[in-house]
Amino acid sequence: MFKTIFENAGTGIMIMDSSGVIIEANRKACEMHGYNRDDLIGLNIDNIETEKNRKIFRERMSRLLKGEAMFFETEHLRKDGAKISLEVSSNAVEIDGRLLIQSFQQDITNRKKVMAQILYSQKMESIGKLVDGIMHEFKNNLTIIQSFTDVILQDKTIAPDTFSCISIIEKTAQRASKTVSQLRSLARKDEFEPVPFNINTVIENTLTMISKFLQKDITVRRELKEPLAYIVGDINQTEQMLINLIINAKEAMPYGGEIAIKTDTIDIYDNRLNIPAVIRSGEYLHLTVSDTGKGIAKEHLPHIFEPFYTTKEGKEVAGVGLAVVYGIVKEHSGYITVESKDGHGTTLNVYLPISKKKTEMVGTEEVVQFKGPETILVVDDEILIMELLRDALLENGFNVVVYISPLKCLEFFRSKNQVIDVVITDILMPEMDGIQLIKSLREISPDIKIIAMTGSNMDIQDMHIDGCLRKPFKASDIVSMVKEVLNRERNVGNC
Ligand SMILES: Nc1ncnc2c1ncn2[C@@H]1O[C@H](COP(=O)(O)OP(=O)(O)OP(=O)(O)O)[C@@H](O)[C@H]1O
Ligand SMILES: [Mg+2]
Repeated sequence: MFKTIFENAGTGIMIMDSSGVIIEANRKACEMHGYNRDDLIGLNIDNIETEKNRKIFRERMSRLLKGEAMFFETEHLRKDGAKISLEVSSNAVEIDGRLLIQSFQQDITNRKKVMAQILYSQKMESIGKLVDGIMHEFKNNLTIIQSFTDVILQDKTIAPDTFSCISIIEKTAQRASKTVSQLRSLARKDEFEPVPFNINTVIENTLTMISKFLQKDITVRRELKEPLAYIVGDINQTEQMLINLIINAKEAMPYGGEIAIKTDTIDIYDNRLNIPAVIRSGEYLHLTVSDTGKGIAKEHLPHIFEPFYTTKEGKEVAGVGLAVVYGIVKEHSGYITVESKDGHGTTLNVYLPISKKKTEMVGTEEVVQFKGPETILVVDDEILIMELLRDALLENGFNVVVYISPLKCLEFFRSKNQVIDVVITDILMPEMDGIQLIKSLREISPDIKIIAMTGSNMDIQDMHIDGCLRKPFKASDIVSMVKEVLNRERNVGNC
């Protein structure tokens, strides 16, 4: 019976002789260390301790042999060379006249990682707050310096020497101002304008914008998943994040190389290991920006997201690029990790949440909410956009009926068109495109007010619509357009 309990215990158990040679190990201990039982038995525990623990190991053994019961944390090496953190409870026992050491081991590698990540994000948060406070003060002082240097420089009578000194002050203040503006995105909550969007489009736009800054010997490889679920966020901030990551990659490759940008979706529930516990489970967009550059030395890795941390030299370098990226990712309720080896390139992984509602809503065709005197019928096959519109309109006191299926929407309109004041429709939809839908709606009710939404430059001039919204748009844009359309007589507008 004791043998069975020993073998099946959820804790790793090892028995060592007085010199540290393992003479017995249960299944869990073998699993944790990645060894077969036969390979583990006969090894000296000293061989599987990590280097930094070996010195303490001897002292620990002698205390154990003197009869002290010990509870400690240590690190062991698995057979494959990976390090595991263990919580160990150990003491000496005498069996058949032999003094042995029994050791009960719990693998706490993941717990330690999660704790380290939580501590790191708390540290970053406090630094962010601190920097925010300093920046506010700094910005005011810079404004004063800039305004007065400006006044002096307007004075045509000042001596040329004084003029050039003041010009230097002005330029320095301008440079400091630029850094402050970059850092403001660390705490720019009020300017965050969430819209649903496809990050692949933002990547393409950003690359077009900055490709002229990349040397000829740098190639950019894209592996963008299509179709890709939308995320909800701020497009300008996302662009800024990509620019900062791409520029860092470029700066790491002065002799050329490759930047790879990938997008995919990932279920964080299934891939928990590298993600801190503070991040909620669910479907995430996984963006990676990798380069084949010089990599990041181990000692720099824990600091790269801190504001003003830089290993570069030069007047224009402030060490804020990744701090800004960190702030933006956090703002989007996401998470960022880095993988890099000195001399062997760098990969930054960004995880941004895809609306959880999306999976819950699939299959729900219709949501009818009654709140105010006017009723708006919305159809968009992209659930996130449909939800954005629904919430914004409800918040502004409208009744809202939403569909993700244009056919079902048409069916509803046929039976209830008298109660609908405005229809908002997407143009590109798989079941039936918006143009066809608009024609059918007009056949049922020639005077119905219609707002079209489109992400393309498609010409819908002849559609006789009352308003047109180009994607991406903000919730407030659609609300003001609905109000405007309701207030005016039917009046045909164009996109
Ligand atoms: N792709 C990369 N390859 C190698 N090192 C990197 C990479 N990205 C960041 N680093 C390291 O992280 C440090 C911090 O990066 P960060 O973008 O915050 O500041 P910076 O690039 O030094 O300055 P700034 O972005 O203000 O011009 C860099 O100095 C560099 O050592
Ligand atoms: Mg940078």
